Amino acid sequence: MYVCICNALKESEVRAAARQTGAAAGARDLFRQLGARPKCGKCVSEAFNLFREERTRTLPETA
Ligand code: FES
Repeated sequence: MYVCICNALKESEVRAAARQTGAAAGARDLFRQLGARPKCGKCVSEAFNLFREERTRTLPETA
């Protein structure tokens, strides 16, 4: 499934980037990691939610 139509970014690519990006990363870092930039901006919220969900799911909790 495509998350970002403008950049043809798939959900699987966003999830992979979330697993490879540092904990303090924001939406801008996510797009940078994917080698893209937001264009219309409609996907940013959804992409970042996916990113956070994947990080929560895959990273160990820190105290
Ligand atoms: S859909 Fe992602 S920037 Fe337009």
